[in-house]
Amino acid sequence: MELVFATHNPNKIREIRQVLPPHITLLTLEDIGCREEIQETADSLEGNALLKASFVLKNYGYPCFADDTGLEVDALDGAPGVFSARYAGTPKNEAKNTEKLLREMQDKTNRKAQFTTVIALCDGKESYLFRGEVEGEITESPKGEKGFGYDPVFRPKGFEKTFAELTLQEKNRISHRARAVTQLLRHLEKREYKN
Ligand code: IMP
Repeated sequence: MELVFATHNPNKIREIRQVLPPHITLLTLEDIGCREEIQETADSLEGNALLKASFVLKNYGYPCFADDTGLEVDALDGAPGVFSARYAGTPKNEAKNTEKLLREMQDKTNRKAQFTTVIALCDGKESYLFRGEVEGEITESPKGEKGFGYDPVFRPKGFEKTFAELTLQEKNRISHRARAVTQLLRHLEKREYKN
C-alpha cells in the first residue's frame, strides 16, 4: 500500500524508511506535490499530528501519517514541549532552539528530560494515535554531529553519548520516534493494509 509521511524533514524520512516493511511504499509530501507548510496550530502533540495527517488525506486523497515531537524538560516545567520547533521564535531555527535551551538550563542541577513522539494515522476510514517516549538528560554543551534538532544536547538514559553521537541504527533502537513507529508498524501489519 502507498502511505504518505507528512513531513518535509529528510532526516525523519530516512529514519522511517529504515524500519518500514516492504509492502508499504512510503511517499513524501514532495512525491504528492504538496509543497506547503502544514500549520501546527493545536495545543497538543496529538492535535498537531492529527491536523497534518488529516490535511493530506482531505486535500490529496492519500492515506497518511504524521508525527509531532516535543522535548519536555523537568526543570523548565515541561517546556519547550509542544512548542519545541519554535522555542526560540519564528522562523524555526534548530541551532537557536538548542542555544536557548542550554541558556535556560545554565544553573539547573536537575537535567532530566524526555522526548515524546505522537504519530497520527488517517487511513481513509479511521484515525489512530501512537505514542513513543524516551527519557534522558540535557547535557551541559552540545556533542556530536549526527542527527538533527536537539540531538546534540540530549543524552538518553543509560548511555554515555548524546543522540547526535549515536549512529542512526543505534538511535533507531531506542528513540521516541522509533517506539511510536513500532506501534504504527504493528498496526500496519494487519491484513487489511496488505492489498
Ligand atoms: P517536530 O514536531 O517533529 O517537527 O519536532 C519539534 C521539534 O523537536 C523540532 O525542533 C525538531 O527539530 C525537534 N525534534 C524532533 N524530533 C527530534 C529528534 O529525534 N531529535 C532531536 N530533535 C528532534
